[in-house]
This record gives sequence, C-alpha cells and structure tokens, in this order.
Amino acid sequence: MSDLLEIIKKEISGAGPITVSRYMELALAHPQFGYYMKQDPFGQDGDFITAPEISQMFGELIGIWAAVVWQGMGSPKKINLVELGPGRGTLMADCTRAAAALEEFEEAVRIYLVETSPALREMQKKTLLSPDMRMPAWRDNFDDVDEGPLIIIANEFFDALPIDQYEKSDSAWHARTIDWDSNAGAFKYTLGKKLDDESPIPSDLRIAPPGAIFEHCPVGEKIMRSIATRIKKFGGAALIIDYGHIERGIGDTLQALKNHSYFDPLLSPGEADITAHVDFSLLAHVAEDVGVNIFGPVPQGAFLSRLGLRQRADSLMLGAAKEQIEEIEGAHARLVGAEQMGTLFKVIAISSADLGVPPWAE
Ligand SMILES: C[S@@+](CC[C@H](N)C(=O)[O-])C[C@H]1O[C@@H](n2cnc3c(N)ncnc32)[C@H](O)[C@@H]1O
Repeated sequence: MSDLLEIIKKEISGAGPITVSRYMELALAHPQFGYYMKQDPFGQDGDFITAPEISQMFGELIGIWAAVVWQGMGSPKKINLVELGPGRGTLMADCTRAAAALEEFEEAVRIYLVETSPALREMQKKTLLSPDMRMPAWRDNFDDVDEGPLIIIANEFFDALPIDQYEKSDSAWHARTIDWDSNAGAFKYTLGKKLDDESPIPSDLRIAPPGAIFEHCPVGEKIMRSIATRIKKFGGAALIIDYGHIERGIGDTLQALKNHSYFDPLLSPGEADITAHVDFSLLAHVAEDVGVNIFGPVPQGAFLSRLGLRQRADSLMLGAAKEQIEEIEGAHARLVGAEQMGTLFKVIAISSADLGVPPWAE
C-alpha cells in the first residue's frame, strides 16, 4: 500500500469521510506524495500528453497571440507574462521564442510561472534558463504575482484544481464524500451530510433526479475572480484552454489517467493524474460579474486554425524530411481534429475594457 493511501485512510479514520475536493487535493498536491509533487508525468513516456508537448506550434501561436495583445494594449514598457501551471515549461519556451521576433515586446516582458510543484519547477528551470532570456520568477499563488499590466496563459490548469461533488438523494442534495471500505480494502463514494444551504447547486438543477451529481470547483472560481479583478484594475488579457463543458449540468466527470489509459480515480492516490471537466459557464459568469470582456468559448481546433496553425505547419514543412513532414501533419491533426483535441478542448479569453484579442478581434 502506498504512503499516501495510508495517510488518507488515517485522516478518514480520525475525522470521518472526506470530501472529493480534499481527496483530490491530497492525491495531486500532498507536499511529499502528491502526484504533481514528485514526478514528471508528461509526454509519451508519462501518463498523458498536453498540447505544448505535442508540437512547438502550439506555444508559438500563443506567443504571437500574446505579442498582438500587448500591441493592442498600447505596447506598455513593462508587461507581466504569467503562466498558470506551466508543466515542463515547454509552452513558455516556445511562446517566448516566437514572441522574441518583436524585440520591444521581448524587452518589456517579465515572466511569472505560478507553480506549486518543486519537481516541476526544477524541470521548468532546465527548459527555460538560457543566457539570452531574463530569469523567470516563480510563485506559489497567482495573487503573489507583482502588480501591473499583465497577460495570463493557462493551458490544462483549471482541470487539475480540486472539485467538490454533490449528490441528490431521494429528497435532498448532499455532499459526496469518500470513505474507506475495509471489507473491499478500497476507497468508496458515500453520501455525505445533507446540505442545509443548497446555494452551491444552481437553482435550475436542484430538481434533478435521485443519483444526480453536480460538480463545483471553488478554487478555480476564486482564481478566476482574482485574474479578472487584476485584469480589470491593471489592463491586459487572459487565455484559458482546457477540456470541459460550455453549459453547466449534471454529471460525474472526475477521471484519472495513468500510462495514457483511464484509471479509477479512487485507486492508488498520488499514482495517477486526476482531473475534472472545467465548467466554462462558471468562469464566464465570474468574468461577467467582475466586469471584464469575455470571448468564447470556442473549440481549440477553430481557435488554432484562426491563429494560423495550418500556415505555421506548412512553413515548418518547407524543406523538411519525410518523417518530419509526417510528424508535423500528425501534430496538426491531433491539435485540431474533431476526434482528438480539436473539439473536446475549449478556449476562452478575457480582457480589460476596450481591448480586443485575436482571433475574436483582429
Ligand atoms: C496538467 S498540468 C498542465 C501543464 C502545462 N500547462 C501543459 O500544458 O503542459 C497542470 C499543471 O498545473 C500545476 N498545478 C496544479 N495545481 C496547481 C495550483 N493550485 N497552483 C499552481 N500550479 C498548480 C501542476 O503542477 C502542473 O504544472
């Protein structure tokens, strides 16, 4: 049995069943044994592969996007370029390399990487430190990023934040909790405390049938509010790319991936990546509430195509060997294909007053 499994069992035997968000928090971010804290899970040899790891084209297009947004802001002398959850640092490396074509932008940029995992911070340092690049600054929390105009990028960040689940019984909504089943020797879902206050459940979904599950990501909501508030105050934009749903609804989307295959999220905490679909309607609602512009969601395929993915692929293929051409075509299909990442992943952007962002405003 793993150390983390024992730690969670102990917490349950002391204080009773835990919420899904507590389980997810421990499984992903326990300081010693959390999934992201101890390893590099990315790439073909890891558990999953993200868009920047599929092709350099992804980060390059985002770099051009950021440079165009900066110009739209009136080319401020200093701009904080912030990435939330930068993984291996690949997106930021490709992004800054492409954006360096605009020298004044390169001069103005201060990079902030918001990352909680020491193992991944090390990896990011290796990827990003180079003699011709200004040292990035690392932060544990977005709120600790220095104030000023900013551009924020978050790819597959919100899906890694802990969610709460609520379950409808015959008559009421309850917290969904996780308990240890000593007969089965495994964790199991249980119906937790009845909600005294049903406010986490949107009023139109409260009449759902028994067995219905509703998910809410309080940490994601809080971070979205912080970034929208910062953008409103100092000017700038954020680009959020993730897999998820456009309309809020009923359903259990908690999932785990190990070696590129689906895995039971309650089996071996800390050994598999656990994620949940991002509720884009919640992010949009928070942005509206704060009072910033909101664009999208649009499918990732449409977003990248409108930014010029095809043209970038064609230019990379000029004079390339046959295997490279196949590789670039394969990456293009993976990023935009409807059966692959093209429609499951969605993109939204938010911006401060009067600032349009590509591809919505070009
Ligand atoms: C699925 S990975 C995405 C990595 C990268 N953006 C990419 O596309 O390859 C999630 C990233 O978010 C980080 N992370 C998760 N929760 C976080 C939190 N609360 N604060 C900061 N970083 C977090 C993880 O350590 C990891 O770097």
